[in-house]
Amino acid sequence: MSITRRTFLETAGVTLAASTVLRAEDATIRVAVIGTGGRGSDLLRALTTIDEVTVVGVCDDYPPHLEQGAKYAGPQAKTFSDYRKLLDELKPQAVVIAVPLYLHYKVAVDCLSAGCDVFLEKTMCYTVDEARKLTAQVLASKRVFQVGLQRRANAIYKQAQAMVAAGMIGQVVSIKAQWHRNNSWRRPIPIPKSDANWLKLERKLNWRLYKAYSAGLMAELGSHQMDVANWFLGTHPKRVMASGGIEYFRDGREVYDNISCLYEYELKDAKGQPYTVRANYTSLCNNAYEGATELIMGTKGSLYLTSEKGLLFQEKGTDVVSWEGGKNAADANAAVVTAGKTLKLSNDPWAHRGTPFEIDIAEGNDTRDELVSFVDHVRRQDVKTICDVNVGLTDCATILMANQSVERGSWINFPF
Ligand SMILES: NC(=O)c1ccc[n+]([C@@H]2O[C@H](COP(=O)([O-])OP(=O)(O)OC[C@H]3O[C@@H](n4cnc5c(N)ncnc54)[C@H](O)[C@@H]3O)[C@@H](O)[C@H]2O)c1
Repeated sequence: MSITRRTFLETAGVTLAASTVLRAEDATIRVAVIGTGGRGSDLLRALTTIDEVTVVGVCDDYPPHLEQGAKYAGPQAKTFSDYRKLLDELKPQAVVIAVPLYLHYKVAVDCLSAGCDVFLEKTMCYTVDEARKLTAQVLASKRVFQVGLQRRANAIYKQAQAMVAAGMIGQVVSIKAQWHRNNSWRRPIPIPKSDANWLKLERKLNWRLYKAYSAGLMAELGSHQMDVANWFLGTHPKRVMASGGIEYFRDGREVYDNISCLYEYELKDAKGQPYTVRANYTSLCNNAYEGATELIMGTKGSLYLTSEKGLLFQEKGTDVVSWEGGKNAADANAAVVTAGKTLKLSNDPWAHRGTPFEIDIAEGNDTRDELVSFVDHVRRQDVKTICDVNVGLTDCATILMANQSVERGSWINFPF
């Protein structure tokens, strides 16, 4: 079977528009941002480009970050160091929360209790117990709630997911994902070590490195990519075995500087037979080779995904995808592999891949797109957000079970 590029996109069943367009006559939504550090500033800058949003207030309890937030938000925004005062005084319709992980639950619950719709950064909560309680509260409140896993808003990932769902890579057999970088994660402290406040400020700025505030690489990076695995497979993992440690950055940190995980997902094939998909996930702080990608491998092809580009590599002997009837380079270059024999081509790890088809979607900005979608749901009071509380709960459980496996040195089952 030959599939032209047009049918290829149609089969995937995806709307190519990168973001929902809101109508100009819609009333503006009064939004406040709580936590204006690194991520909060990114979100704030994106929010100020959305016409339908008025940023009415910003809050941070660290003055330099509050100052930065106020600058990005503009003169109409009031500043607060205590978010409860912000909620009391401004009564925003929606809040965007980007505080450290250990505070997610408390701040989100207080905002929901104040009647706000909530956009909460990933990972949803610091513990599964908190995530379950927050889920119950969100559902009872009927407030609009979205977790900041922006791949869910990314046009490339949306199309790739639709391609997998449409069977274009066949039966998914394996997933490989990693987030590798060469960066200590440690932030400099702007006061001398002799200062009595040094330790407090160090913990505040480097919260990611300490277990009381952070769940390390899995929460900060793995949450995005294991959510892709859960989303594409349409389920959560059954169990995980993981190993991690501090092998290089021995600087007093408590979270691992590298982790390797093997997740197992139980699925059913086309004939209803159960089978297992294994997902390998690694994250490193000391080698950036391969960067951040996900590879979804199926019996008919593999999807190699990044936020900027998606590539489809086809397996030899499967349906041929061609560009408007052009010669199929992927097919011509593909390796011939016969059972039980390793052919010469496989000694060259690149040769068998062939020429991939690119997922060519107009450029977008997934951070902005996720906020546009959130604001649109707030405007329509539609609780079915692109990354709802159940997605957040499943993602949270998925990443925390890996940390637990490292600590216990054993397989850990999905907790519910
Ligand atoms: N989706 C993404 O791609 C992405 C990227 C980076 C970070 N994040 C998430 O965003 C969150 C924040 O991360 P970050 O990198 O911006 O950290 P950060 O340390 O740069 O910013 C957190 C801010 O919260 C402030 N804060 C702490 N306690 C507060 C309180 N009680 N009231 C008000 N403000 C308070 C801190 O002073 C700081 O300015 C984390 O959950 C992180 O995982 C998401």
